[in-house]
Amino acid sequence: MKVAPSILTADFTNLKEELESIKNADYIHLDIMDGHFVPNISFGPAISKKISENTDIDLDVHLMVWQPLFWVPKFAFKRTKYITIHIESDDVKETIEAIKELEIGVGLSIKPKTPLKDLYPYIKKADLILIMTVEPGFGGQSFMEDQLTKVKELVKYREKNKLDFMIEVDGGINDETIDACREAGVDIVVAGSYIFNMKNRKEGIESLK
Ligand code: DX5
Ligand code: ZN
Repeated sequence: MKVAPSILTADFTNLKEELESIKNADYIHLDIMDGHFVPNISFGPAISKKISENTDIDLDVHLMVWQPLFWVPKFAFKRTKYITIHIESDDVKETIEAIKELEIGVGLSIKPKTPLKDLYPYIKKADLILIMTVEPGFGGQSFMEDQLTKVKELVKYREKNKLDFMIEVDGGINDETIDACREAGVDIVVAGSYIFNMKNRKEGIESLK
């Protein structure tokens, strides 16, 4: 299992040490919120750029914004491995092409109430599918176990259609919910509050792995 700590719950007055504390992470997950697509604002390109310059871990950028086409180029750092957009947002097709042109992995995400079938028109273009296991917008919410049905469907779909995207879940991941994720076939978990509320983050990451 790969682990992507979400720095949304980190101490932003102490970012350098916070990054130091998660050095064994597989990716760093950046939650970007525009205050419209979700009812919250997080941080933007300037802080993300500083993060990219202060780590040697690849970045997994999660755009919770209405106009990803405008925002994608602003998160194209040397360390950006994936940029994930929501298929509920505007200009999905054009944004997928824009991410590909930047030679960054394309991530596609759906909110809990969006059916999996809405993803299928775009799925062949995806390097990563992010299934939200909370309503996006805030860290520290409870895991929606019913969303794992989508993960199980995706595992079958991927095999049947000989595709090779990664399957990621985001929201409410901790030592109690991780086993169900593993059993469903998840490849990457995003974990925010579980890791950053721990004293020893490295052990927290290891235990999820
Ligand atoms: C929710 C974000 C998540 C969130 C995860 O909008 O996409 O990445 O911060 O936080 P926890 O692990 O605290 O649920
Ligand atoms: Zn996220």
